Amino acid sequence: MAVSKKGDKVTLFDPNVFRKKILAWYDKHQRILPWRARKGETPHPYYVWLSEIMLQQTTVVTVGPYFQKFIDKWPTVHDLASAERDEVMHEWAGLGYYARARNLHKCAAIVSNELNGKFPSTQKDLEKLPGIGGYTSAAIRAIAFNKPANVVDGNIERVMSRVFAVTEPLPAIKPYLKELAGQLSENFTNRPGDYAQALMDLGATICTPTSPKCSLCPVHPLCSAAKQGIAKQLPRKTLKKAKPQKHGHVYWITDHEDKILFIRRAETEMLGGMLGLPTSKWVESHKNFKSIKGAKANNLSIKHSFTHFDLILDIYVGNYDKIQASGMIPPSNHHFWMSSSELDNIGLPTVFKKVVKLMK
Ligand code: ADE
Repeated sequence: MAVSKKGDKVTLFDPNVFRKKILAWYDKHQRILPWRARKGETPHPYYVWLSEIMLQQTTVVTVGPYFQKFIDKWPTVHDLASAERDEVMHEWAGLGYYARARNLHKCAAIVSNELNGKFPSTQKDLEKLPGIGGYTSAAIRAIAFNKPANVVDGNIERVMSRVFAVTEPLPAIKPYLKELAGQLSENFTNRPGDYAQALMDLGATICTPTSPKCSLCPVHPLCSAAKQGIAKQLPRKTLKKAKPQKHGHVYWITDHEDKILFIRRAETEMLGGMLGLPTSKWVESHKNFKSIKGAKANNLSIKHSFTHFDLILDIYVGNYDKIQASGMIPPSNHHFWMSSSELDNIGLPTVFKKVVKLMK
């Protein structure tokens, strides 16, 4: 039985037959998503762009309410461009990968001020904008402008690995999966936007990672992995190395009114531009950082997983007047004092929400 290998051309079936089956399935089973144009509606490039930026590294379920909130608050790209950056960061809080929010705001300003509010429709021009890379430019071109583009996200990679029974492991085999997807998408002008979204939906609802529902799949008769009974095992993955662990202190510093000290994080740091509790440096060795004099360990800590490391922050508590006297935290206009009752609404990254939850 055929197993596709690097360099193979698609000869297992006619791409037109594959597309026809996928599109017919989509007409019946597409997901209703808040950013998605319904049948007969014209896609809204601002919605498509905003959703694709939010969906980078984040699930459809998580993105839903955030997308709605952004659209309610800033119905057009001009509205988003005119917003204060801190307000955008506030509304983004909890979605993670905060460089996306900074780039989102920069991109909105360029589209609003320099492009007359119109998103470009070529991948080359889209990729000149902040926060838009190869995947996102392809998705916007296909979904917002209904132009052929090779859109390949994690769901589509999985579908390709199964349809063509590609047994070499990810991530090394990514370029080949993209090449296979390209042979089914590039240059095909029949409903390219629907085709891309259909493959995403198929991957999310039928061709799922652990229990693919092959009996419901519209391309089951064309699928090499299903024929060989190996769909569940694909795509193979090279084992990941364990994540490194970093450590640090996080400070719960109160004033005489029991208000809590927050800072806005520097643009160049992780979580840049977001509000946060003060912390020490985050380092790989437990011993290698200076703590604030006058703050005491309260024997609580939180753990948070970032993409490239796990972070353990030990919580230290202290009183501002004493600490200030120690000279470790200079007074600064980047500090904010929040009362306990305000903490639910200030828009914090999840790592700091965990500390607030423990301390409240
Ligand atoms: N994942 C990334 N982009 C998506 C989209 N437009 N629809 C559904 N899932 C997605």
